[in-house]
Amino acid sequence: MKGLKILGTGRCLPDKLVTNDDMRAFVDTSDEWIRTRTGIQTRHFCAEGESTASLGVKAARLALERAGISPEDLGACVGCTVSSDTAAPTVASTIQRDLGLPKHIPYFDLNAGCSGFLYGLHVTRGLLLQSDKPYALLVGAETLSRVMNFQDRGTCVIFGDGAGAVVVKLEEAPYAYTLGAEGSDDVIYIGGYGSKEPYIHMEGQKTFRFAVEMVPWCIHELLGQSGLKLEDIDWFVLHQANKRIIDHVAKKLGMPGERFYQNIAHYGNTSAASIPIALDEMAEQGLLKRGQKLLCVGFGAGLTWGGALLEW
Ligand code: UT7
Repeated sequence: MKGLKILGTGRCLPDKLVTNDDMRAFVDTSDEWIRTRTGIQTRHFCAEGESTASLGVKAARLALERAGISPEDLGACVGCTVSSDTAAPTVASTIQRDLGLPKHIPYFDLNAGCSGFLYGLHVTRGLLLQSDKPYALLVGAETLSRVMNFQDRGTCVIFGDGAGAVVVKLEEAPYAYTLGAEGSDDVIYIGGYGSKEPYIHMEGQKTFRFAVEMVPWCIHELLGQSGLKLEDIDWFVLHQANKRIIDHVAKKLGMPGERFYQNIAHYGNTSAASIPIALDEMAEQGLLKRGQKLLCVGFGAGLTWGGALLEW
């Protein structure tokens, strides 16, 4: 089976740190409410001069440096985002320009809500299967603060800005995937170009119920495909949407919470960037060892869901 090995990771969080108390300048909320309902303590917001693409470029540069590959060996570059600065240029093509990457390979963005990174992994694998180049660059980048309604307290306290990137290589390794969608605009809605309401709005409880049902489903689907058991998985890297969702899933599966990486306290929900940011932190902290098995699962706007089994 041709799977994907992650050779290098990178992340970029904007400098501007916003605490729960800072959010009280916009909405009637409290540190206590946000912490207990979500686990979030801080998030980062872009300042003037920063953009979805600029965060993506910085994360991508680090991932390429750490992978130690020659950019000439890249077969594709995919940006995953729901908050691109412009419809064109895309985040991916800005990365091409700013990092001087080779021109004659595909560069494009995909939007699959908070599941974007999982969709991106599988699309990237497909592209590499058709390419004579071994590597691809995959970047999740978001500036959700730019599409926030700062009067919608049930939504705006949850999200943050950031980018994460990985360089992957196609090689013999375990691999399984699941992707899906169920069209809906009354659970999570993000206004786009020309929209009357260019904001993100989330019906929290509906989203919560969707997540706690879908994530275990994805995990069992991946285990079923690969013939592995829960105990064979070293790390569960879930989309960081709410600490309570991750804790709930761990409990439902009867797995120790320590196997579920969490960083939502620091960054909030960074949509398609949350999983690659988590992977970069885990790599930096030395938590990931070669040969370990990872289950990554994303879920969110669309509604969409996606999961992948990877070997580190
Ligand atoms: O990335 C996409 C995936 N996203 C998710 O998975 C998010 C899933 N959902 C959630 O994380 C939670 O539903 C939230 C954290 C968004 C909300 O928590 P909740 O426990 O579902 O709260 P709720 O929406 O039921 O609201 C409970 C109360 C309401 O007040 P009343 O009507 O009971 O008086 C809200 O008005 O909390 C109030 N409330 C707030 N209070 C203080 C809502 N937002 C806030 C706030 N601060 N920021």
